[in-house]
Amino acid sequence: MSEQTLFIVKPDAVARKLVGQIIARFETKGFKILKLKMFTFSKTQAQEFYAVHNTKPFFGELVDFITSGPVVVAVIEGNNAVATTRILVGATKSYEAAPGSIRGDFGLGISDNIIHASDSKENFEKEAKVVFE
Ligand code: CMP
Repeated sequence: MSEQTLFIVKPDAVARKLVGQIIARFETKGFKILKLKMFTFSKTQAQEFYAVHNTKPFFGELVDFITSGPVVVAVIEGNNAVATTRILVGATKSYEAAPGSIRGDFGLGISDNIIHASDSKENFEKEAKVVFE
């Protein structure tokens, strides 16, 4: 079933010049890139984007990190996009992520965990609004 999702190459990965390699993983897998944009989150935009986490103890750290530098956001389309993208991305804690996944291959951090991907169709729609509207 073809669907859409969104991923964000986080400031750590942009600073480390991993944008091309990360986007290539999705293209190689077979996804089509529908939208691509580089920008820096404002605090307000980041708080809205991560609103589902606003009661968590790490919320402040999360907002500080995602606003710390430019990110690259992509909307992609393909079979089973939401779930398959989560598999390609790997576990949240990069140091536990399986080798072969993006976090498993490129990172060691939690806030600085290389990439974000929408965890549901509903959150994809909310996140895309914050970033593209
Ligand atoms: P992401 O997929 O962008 O979704 C929410 C983010 O919160 C997650 O990746 C991590 O970067 C961050 N996060 C999750 N758990 C923690 C934690 N315990 N400490 C700091 N950041 C966290």
